[in-house]
Amino acid sequence: MLLSLLLVNLALVLLSCSTQVMLTSQMLQHTDAFDNIDWNYHRWIAPGEGDLRSPCPGMNTLANHGFISRDGKNITIPMVLKAADVVYNNPADPVMNLALKLALLTTDAPDSFTLDDLKLHGTIEHDASISRLDYALGNNLHFNSTVFSTLSESNPGFDVYNTTSVGQVLEERLALAKKENAELVNTIKERQSQLLEASLFLSVMGDPRTGVAPKRFVQIFFSE
Ligand code: HEM
Ligand SMILES: *[C@@H]1O[C@H](CO)[C@@H](O)[C@H](O)[C@H]1NC(C)=O
Ligand SMILES: *[C@@H]1O[C@H](CO)[C@@H](O)[C@H](O)[C@H]1NC(C)=O
Ligand SMILES: *[C@@H]1O[C@H](CO)[C@@H](O)[C@H](O)[C@H]1NC(C)=O
Repeated sequence: MLLSLLLVNLALVLLSCSTQVMLTSQMLQHTDAFDNIDWNYHRWIAPGEGDLRSPCPGMNTLANHGFISRDGKNITIPMVLKAADVVYNNPADPVMNLALKLALLTTDAPDSFTLDDLKLHGTIEHDASISRLDYALGNNLHFNSTVFSTLSESNPGFDVYNTTSVGQVLEERLALAKKENAELVNTIKERQSQLLEASLFLSVMGDPRTGVAPKRFVQIFFSE
């Protein structure tokens, strides 16, 4: 119950970047799960010049809301664990810990990383992503709406994504990568990461028990 309340709240917070600022802030006043957070400080602000972002929509969202440094630099493991606990209700401990340890391998710095570091191909970053181009094909860092259209046009006629529809999208993206990317890296490791990422976005933008997430929340999560 509390979990779903927190997740609904996160979705509402993300909505505040859209046109529903008024409605959202009113609704937030009527919930108490996030009462200790200063939402003025943690409002959504687009990255400015010189601010770094990553290929990960989850980490970018944390930075855009100031739960980790807005400039995307000097990020440490404890910082992210704390932010993920507050914002995402710590969706999956072992997964998060592993991702963060791998994150340190993307940089020469001893105990911190920048969001830009995370794009290092082959560490966490992989091919056949649903919102970024493959490394060999161009920009593997920024959101690409052509790439994302496989997801955004999926499950037509319904206003949610679910595990079935997202599974089909992953298959389609992989099939495309096999055709277009002569340097495609496609092992169990990449496919496993991708399943984890898919379950993360369905959980944080939707209902973690059913894996059903509203399309409009997912759209905002990926593109902003
Ligand atoms: C906090 C909760 C998190 C959520 C909700 C989340 C969500 C996602 C999603 C949905 C993707 C897939 C993007 C795509 O296929 O286009 C992704 C990719 C990625 N995530 Fe996260 N993530 C989280 C935490 C982390 C952490 C802690 C790290 C490491 C510091 C990380 C690093 C990455 C990287 C490097 C990618 C790029 C993989 C690729 O598509 O090539 N993520 N994440
Ligand atoms: C913060 O990160 C930047 C970029 O990686 C680095 O140049 C700088 O030395 C770091 N500052 C601190 C205080 O660690
Ligand atoms: C987005 O991806 C398409 C291929 O799917 C590519 O043609 C286009 O140049 C990419 N856009 C950017 C801004 O990289
Ligand atoms: C996902 O949604 C589609 C369309 O409503 C439906 O056919 C399918 O059974 C759903 N899958 C799950 C796991 O709920």
